[in-house]
Amino acid sequence: VSSRNCLADWFPRLQAAGVPVPRTEIVRWAGQPEALADLLDGKEPKGFKGFVAALTIAAAKVGGPPAFLRTGQGSGKHSWASTCHVTDLAKLPDHVERLVEWSHMVSFLGALPFDVWAVRELLPTTPRVLLPSYDGFPLVREARGFVGNGEVKCVHPYWPADAIRQGFPMKAGGLDDPFEYDVPADFEVVVRWATDLDAFPPGWRELLGRVAAAFAGDGTWSVDVLLTDKGYYVTDMAEAERSYHWPGCPKGPRAAEVVP
Ligand SMILES: Nc1ncnc2c1ncn2[C@@H]1O[C@H](COP(=O)(O)OP(=O)(O)O)[C@@H](O)[C@H]1O
Ligand SMILES: [Mg+2]
Repeated sequence: VSSRNCLADWFPRLQAAGVPVPRTEIVRWAGQPEALADLLDGKEPKGFKGFVAALTIAAAKVGGPPAFLRTGQGSGKHSWASTCHVTDLAKLPDHVERLVEWSHMVSFLGALPFDVWAVRELLPTTPRVLLPSYDGFPLVREARGFVGNGEVKCVHPYWPADAIRQGFPMKAGGLDDPFEYDVPADFEVVVRWATDLDAFPPGWRELLGRVAAAFAGDGTWSVDVLLTDKGYYVTDMAEAERSYHWPGCPKGPRAAEVVP
């Protein structure tokens, strides 16, 4: 795993570029990198209390609770309420444990690193719906751009329709089939709301352009932009070759090889 994908690497550069980003406190796990995995065996690693205390202080610094918790590599967003969405600071240890678990489950190539943590301002949004199968993940308007050489190379909606569909419960007895999810009657409208970039309020493309300029000459990146109640924010970046393009995107020939 390239350290360039770590929030601790790209976030300070975004911040220095002056683009809107959530207030963010980076907290490093100071123990042996692997020791946090002891949580999964029900053991408390040495130094864990101090780590949780540091996360608690960080949460207050970013205006929480509530707050948004993730590792340098990701958030476990498909289990929203138990991973990244922290409403009760007393439960921080549980969120850490679930994110360590996610770090092990998400990659076929071995666990993602979990030595870097970020406590972030929970940006205010107006979700269209909370997706029950993603533990209440709020469906919001997000766009993903690929930037390189100072320009925006392509843009995509953030969510494929099927990923939104799978956020609804499967019908009882249903097979894992796209038609067997219990989606609301206006599902197509919901999908269009979340994915029709042309219908988004203006501003997201300009923001991607600013990120492109800030990272010009430094490879190709995917950049995620989130519409909040106070405008567009950049929430996430990754090296482009590791990020999901939409099927058929001419800029994403390796789309089949990456994990959405
Ligand atoms: N600070 C934040 N406030 C509110 N929602 C957020 C915030 N950061 C991320 N999100 C939401 O959570 C999702 C996942 O966050 P992200 O940091 O991109 O992790 P991952 O790498 O797992 O995708 C985002 O796509 C967005 O919907
Ligand atoms: Mg992301």
